[in-house]
Order: sequence, then C-alpha cells, then structure tokens
Amino acid sequence: MKRNKIVAGNWKMNLDFDEAQMLIEDLENLLDDKQPSCEVIICPPFPYLELATDEATEHELFEVGAQNVSAFDSGAYTGEVSAKMLDSIGVSCCIIGHSERRKYFNEDNATLAQKVNQSLKYEIVPIFCVGEVLEEREKGIHFDVIRKQIEEGLFHLEAADLENVIIAYEPVWAIGTGKTATPAQAQEVHAFIRGLIKEKYGEDLADQQHILYGGSCNAKNAAELFAQPDVDGGLIGGASLKAEDFVSICEQASK
Ligand code: PGA
Repeated sequence: MKRNKIVAGNWKMNLDFDEAQMLIEDLENLLDDKQPSCEVIICPPFPYLELATDEATEHELFEVGAQNVSAFDSGAYTGEVSAKMLDSIGVSCCIIGHSERRKYFNEDNATLAQKVNQSLKYEIVPIFCVGEVLEEREKGIHFDVIRKQIEEGLFHLEAADLENVIIAYEPVWAIGTGKTATPAQAQEVHAFIRGLIKEKYGEDLADQQHILYGGSCNAKNAAELFAQPDVDGGLIGGASLKAEDFVSICEQASK
C-alpha cells in the first residue's frame, strides 16, 4: 500500500484572533486554488480551534488538530482540555509529546502514553513527536533516545490503535533554528523508526505507518525531504504561519 503524504502546520503560541482568522482565510483561498492532493492539517492554539473546525466543515480543505491534550478524562483538572472536548468540536488530531512540551512542561513518556490513550479513546489521531537534542546526536545516542520515546510512548498500544497514530521525527536541534536535518539524516531515522515498528508489529503495519519530518522544514527544502522513501510529509512550525509557504509545502508533498 502506498502511503499518502501529510502536511501538518503547528502554529504554536502565535497570532491573535484576527490574525488567526486572516491566516485561515488566506489558506483557504490558496488551498482552493492549488488543490494539493496531500492531507492538510492545521493545529492552531485552543481558542481558535472551533473557528478552524467550522471552516474545515464548510470548505473541506483541511483537518484541524490541537497542540496538546489532557492526560485525564474529565473533572477537577483546572486549566486542562480533554480529548472529549476536542472531539466534541470536530478536532480530528492532536500533537502529543512535542519537544517544547517535554522540555518546558516536563512531560515524560508515561504522561505522553496516557495522552495518546485519551486521544485514541475519542478517535483523535495522535501526532506523536520524537527526537533527540544536539548533545545526544553528538554523542551518537540518538537512536537509543528515539527508541525509548517510541517504546514508552506508543508500544503499549495494540496494532489496531497504533495504525491510527502519526509519528513525527523532530530533531530538537532543527526546531526553529533554521538548521534542517539533511534528507539523508531524516531518512536514516525514519527508516530506523519504521524498523522498530516492523520488529514489534510486523511489516504490514510498519509499511502503512505515517512518519513525518519536522524541524526547519520550509518551502525551499521540503521537496528534497519528502522525496525520501520513509518521509511521509512534514510537521511545519514557522513556515505554517505564512499561507504561501505552507501551501507551497503542501504542493511539494503532492507530487
Ligand atoms: P519549525 O518547528 O518548523 O519552526 O522548526 C517545527 C515544530 O516544532 O513542529
């Protein structure tokens, strides 16, 4: 089975309401014009999700993801947003385990595994992020780091659930730094991740698992990255805030 490509935009903590509305409008015009064949996902901050899902329902040009979700189901967890809430407003996926959440909010693999479970319970597709920091790559232990993140965050799942997870490899040293992994570096890790899945779940599941690359992916380098056999699209930060750049990346994922 040939895997379709996916491009997801991670807006992070950017834009006010008017700016978010404008970006969605610009994206709609461009996506409608260019009609990229890849799957397009946008992940705005929580307050703009419903605006985005309303637009998604009306125009069917993109799907909507959240950037985080609670590890708990419901109840006295002040400030948290549950998977059930996200599902109830039409959010269809959720970034889990982004390196910024691991670093600034101390999210560990056990918590992330719970977030994955919560998402899947409400049929929200987790976009599960893994990746090493620069020091780990320099020491040559990046494969061990990624193996641990995948094993502890995802390998408790049944095959039927893992099938619904998108994995994103995001080397931390490449995020927001302008320093992209080379296509060969990305391919090497993506093939490694696919190999881990094959080892545990078999070749069929490994073959259909989507693995996205993230970290300074932009309109200039996307084509080369997406041409790698195990790179199934991108998780885009900075460049997802510019409609033209983001849609250009989507077009490159559609060739
Ligand atoms: P970047 O971010 O494209 O700005 O490097 C990617 C990400 O953090 O998902």
